[in-house]
Parts: sequence; C-alpha cells; structure tokens
Amino acid sequence: AIRNAANKYHTTYLLAKAGLPVPATFSVQDRDKAIEIINELRDAVVKPVFGYKGKGIIRVRDGKMVEPDGTISQIPWKEQITQMIDSWGMLYIQEFIENQGRDIRVFVVNGKVLGSIYRSAQKGHWINNLSQGGTSSPCSLTPSQERICAKAAEAVGTVFAGVDLIEGPGGTMVLEVNGTPSGAGIYSSCGVNVAGHILDYIHLRE
Ligand SMILES: Nc1ncnc2c1ncn2[C@@H]1O[C@H](COP(=O)(O)OP(=O)(O)O)[C@@H](O)[C@H]1O
Ligand SMILES: [Mg+2]
Repeated sequence: AIRNAANKYHTTYLLAKAGLPVPATFSVQDRDKAIEIINELRDAVVKPVFGYKGKGIIRVRDGKMVEPDGTISQIPWKEQITQMIDSWGMLYIQEFIENQGRDIRVFVVNGKVLGSIYRSAQKGHWINNLSQGGTSSPCSLTPSQERICAKAAEAVGTVFAGVDLIEGPGGTMVLEVNGTPSGAGIYSSCGVNVAGHILDYIHLRE
C-alpha cells in the first residue's frame, strides 16, 4: 500500500480506476509531447513522481513558469522541461485546478474519516503544504467528500491515509493519497491523535 501511495502516477491510476475524480493527468517520456500537453492544458503542474512536501513541483501557465509565491519566473520553461526529462526519464503532468488558495488534508484510518484540515497557502502562493509555509485550520467535509476519501484510501490500500483533496470549479478532486502522513496537523487543529486509532486497528486484528 505504501508503494502504491509513494508513486503518484500509480496512485492516480488506481484512483481513476476506482471511478474517483482526479485532475487530467499525463505521463510522458518525450520532450515535444510534454510541451504540447502543457500548452494544451494552458495551466499545468509537473511533479516528481516520487515527490513529497510540495518539493520540486513546477507550474507553467500560458507559457510562463509561475514560482511557488505566484510571481512569474524568468527561467525559460522549455529548458526546465528538457532538464527534468533528462534527469527523470519521464514527466508527470497534471492540469492545474483553480482553487481558493487552499486544499484539504483528510485523515483516514481503517476506512473511517477521523478529521480533516484546510491547508491554506500564504497569500498569492499556490503550494499549500504545511512544510511550504501553509497554515492549517479545521474543516468539515461534506458526506460526498467523506465517501471519496474512504474510497481513495481503499483504492490505494492504505489503513492509515492522508488524502489530499482540492475543491475546483468542477467539484472536489483527489490530488494524492499519502501512505505515511504526519499526524501533527490533525492533532493541533482537531485534537485527534491518530496513533490511538491506528493502535486500535492493530489490536482488533490480533
Ligand atoms: N493539479 C493541481 N492543481 C492545483 N494545485 C496543485 C495541483 N497539484 C498540486 N498542487 C499544489 O501542490 C501541493 C503539493 O502537491 P501534491 O500532489 O499533494 O504533492 P506532495 O506529495 O508534494 O504533497 C498541493 O497541496 C497543492 O497545493
Ligand atoms: Mg500532498
């Protein structure tokens, strides 16, 4: 399960196969094809397939790279793409989902949603991870969002999952499922200690 969750492409494949809403996602090995897809999407993110904590993600909007703080980069994006393909051998490209500067991290243990937090980026920034300066606040999910998260954890196979949701113009989508999420955000925002719930699960199985 952790292997399924570590590889973002494999996760997205499993989520889509389970009928869950995910952003349009492409994996390509060819530089020209990558450039064509990014241009067609008009606003796209390229992520390391084994990435974490919001590291190494780039965004290209209307032919310009957008820095994590929202400013336009002077680095020519096609050169950046060429370098990334050269070092990784492939690119994981996703449509950028317009959002209100926040996403949702949902903690699931054994199919049950224990709590969820909004992660809000600093003003103007577009990466919401707490480790990138995002802040957390409590969040109440809709029943449909709860169902999506339970199903996402099941699709990936993780007993303890941190499901990242993003609320876009077309509804809620699953960005990724983390197999080894930190429990710090839910503890400080909702007062829920996931460790006890994980131990209960282990105890039940003994
Ligand atoms: N398709 C997307 N549309 C909009 N924002 C995104 C998208 N993908 C990633 N992000 C932003 O980047 C952050 C990190 O992306 P994520 O896929 O969760 O990778 P990581 O494993 O690094 O946390 C997200 O929390 C979100 O703020
Ligand atoms: Mg994430």
